[in-house]
Amino acid sequence: MESLKTRIEALTQEIKATVPATKEELEAYRIKFLGTKGLVKEVLAGMKEVPADQKKEAGQLLNAFKLLAEGHYESFSHLQENSTAGMQLADLSLPGADRPPGTRHPLRIVENKIVEIFEKLGFGVAEGPEIEDDWHNFTSLNMPADHTARDMQDTFYVAQNPDWLLRTHTSSVQARVLEEGKLPVRVICPGRVYRNETISARAHCFFHQCEGLYIDENVSFADLKQTLYAFVTEMFGEHTRVRFRPSYFPFTEPSAEMDISCTVCGGSGCSLCKHTGWVEILGCGMVHPDLLRNFDIDPEKYSGFAFGMGVERITQIRYQVNDLRLYSQNDVRFLKQFRANA
Ligand code: PHE
Repeated sequence: MESLKTRIEALTQEIKATVPATKEELEAYRIKFLGTKGLVKEVLAGMKEVPADQKKEAGQLLNAFKLLAEGHYESFSHLQENSTAGMQLADLSLPGADRPPGTRHPLRIVENKIVEIFEKLGFGVAEGPEIEDDWHNFTSLNMPADHTARDMQDTFYVAQNPDWLLRTHTSSVQARVLEEGKLPVRVICPGRVYRNETISARAHCFFHQCEGLYIDENVSFADLKQTLYAFVTEMFGEHTRVRFRPSYFPFTEPSAEMDISCTVCGGSGCSLCKHTGWVEILGCGMVHPDLLRNFDIDPEKYSGFAFGMGVERITQIRYQVNDLRLYSQNDVRFLKQFRANA
């Protein structure tokens, strides 16, 4: 029994030290250890000499040795002729699998463009939370609790706290910027906003805005007009004309809505401009003095303008998309049409 153990140990060492590099060397190993006259058979035959009371232990030893010798052979099977491992090698001359590249979302393409234009005009980007409190979304912006303007924006409130809501415009970010108390301010605030609207081709319960705010000494309505004119000519082309119509927002005075000449028909009348020649694109105005006071800014010294536009609206004009729902349906047939624009 002892001599059998010593023999198995010695052979185990020898097997481990044998590292065949070619199929001939592997075959030589097979013949030497696993062949019909091989060493494994020879050692197994030694079982006969083992006394009966040690046969069980010897059997386990011999079995483990046999498995080791076979396993060693298998681990070099890639050297065998016609081995299955060899056949699994990839055909490197085959063309790769088709994986179409993703595309940027049209809203993101347009938002990036808007931001890029305003950055060139000296505006920085500010962002804020989508879950807001009443103060930043309404009250600080001159919309106290009973202000009728709150009816203009049906709001989603957060059930846990009546003071929390999903922001209805990114003017809330402007409130947060003003709160920091650093002047002058020149920011653009892109982001998602929420309103309690029934979803249809023309309305959605969430959409995207880019709002802007500029506050400094001696900022006038002429600055507002010039900045927005520079924006639309960059965005829609240098022949674009603009017009301002008086409007009302609680946070601006005076307030206006800005139209651009129709980018599809150029003014002669089509379905985009509803045959008026003009398309409305944004709301704007001079920041209301009361709002400046809410943030401890002296309206005698400082003035400013603000504006807000819907990114979906600008995208609709730019790409002739006539159903708002397309933006959030994730239909690849829609999205891939913007590949060239990203
Ligand atoms: N906050 C307004 C809206 O969501 C847009 C706006 C911003 C209008 C700034 C005027 C000035 O409709």
